[in-house]
Amino acid sequence: MTTTLDADLTPYGGVEADADWAARVRELATKRDAVLLAHNYQVPEIQDIADFTGDSLALSRIAANSDASTIVFCGVHFMAETAKILAPEKTVLIPDARAGCSLADSITGEQLRAWKAEHPGAVVVSYVNTTAEVKAETDICCTSSNAVDVVASIPADQEVLFLPDQFLGAHVKRVTGRDNVHVWAGECHVHAGINGAELAARAEEDPDADLFIHPECGCATSALYLAGEGAVAPERVKILSTGDMVHAARDTKARSVLVATEIGMIHQLRKAAPEIDFRAVNDRASCRYMKMITPAALLRCLTEGADEVHVDAETAARARASVQRMIEIGQPGGGE
Ligand code: 13P
Ligand code: SF4
Repeated sequence: MTTTLDADLTPYGGVEADADWAARVRELATKRDAVLLAHNYQVPEIQDIADFTGDSLALSRIAANSDASTIVFCGVHFMAETAKILAPEKTVLIPDARAGCSLADSITGEQLRAWKAEHPGAVVVSYVNTTAEVKAETDICCTSSNAVDVVASIPADQEVLFLPDQFLGAHVKRVTGRDNVHVWAGECHVHAGINGAELAARAEEDPDADLFIHPECGCATSALYLAGEGAVAPERVKILSTGDMVHAARDTKARSVLVATEIGMIHQLRKAAPEIDFRAVNDRASCRYMKMITPAALLRCLTEGADEVHVDAETAARARASVQRMIEIGQPGGGE
């Protein structure tokens, strides 16, 4: 189930994330034989109680390989759906099924079928932020941490339809140097709102900081421009998936890092490298869908066994091949 912006998206509330809550969550998870997965954009309490916190690719891999009979996916709906596609025999739960994604909503199966008809023979590469119906029309799925590897694996003379994120698509075109990649004009409203002017102002205030930029951001091109102009040392500009940001935090020698992505990311970065000063380029960049997974929602999920995620068998079978290729290509993303 995806969501529309006018639906009631008031998160479940009224539960403190205290020691009693944590003990109850762990006890219920054990009773259900459930593994708790949390995306890097979740609120800190959810990240800290999860068995694994990571990026989309790392969490998909864990879901595919887990021995647990139940997966509780603390993230948005397309992520839980991807887990169900990869592990159809498992029960997949999401603490609030209304947690959608504006980027996944930017293309429908019908729109993709029409686009394919205009480009017969093109290879369809879809970002994991898509519905199961769109994945079923896709040749290879990718995430931000392996999008470049996925497109590079396609013969150079074959046309590619890349969807739905225009900024990630522009990044893939830039790195692969291919001009036969057609990009859908979708965007994530949270990342698109992190703009080049804001990034330039922050970088000017702190010229020695590293810049960690998620490729879905509106400012990714500006970051490379700043490097090209010499305003920021080129080696300080890093275009990274959320999981790769955690790896880069452990490796960098910088004392401060400007982070251009959803603000939930800062928690995991501070845990990985407490000595570094991590600052959000835009501290209003918060995803309301990710934040619907509250402590109350997680407790309700484990108590009631809801919301359960279903993908019809035919759609799942058609989507599975493209998702399986995604988890096989490229280096593992973040996760701990
Ligand atoms: P990654 O975790 O794959 O970098 O994705 C970020 C994102 O926007 C998920 O919605
Ligand atoms: Fe979707 Fe953007 Fe939220 Fe990620 S941050 S879940 S892409 S709306």
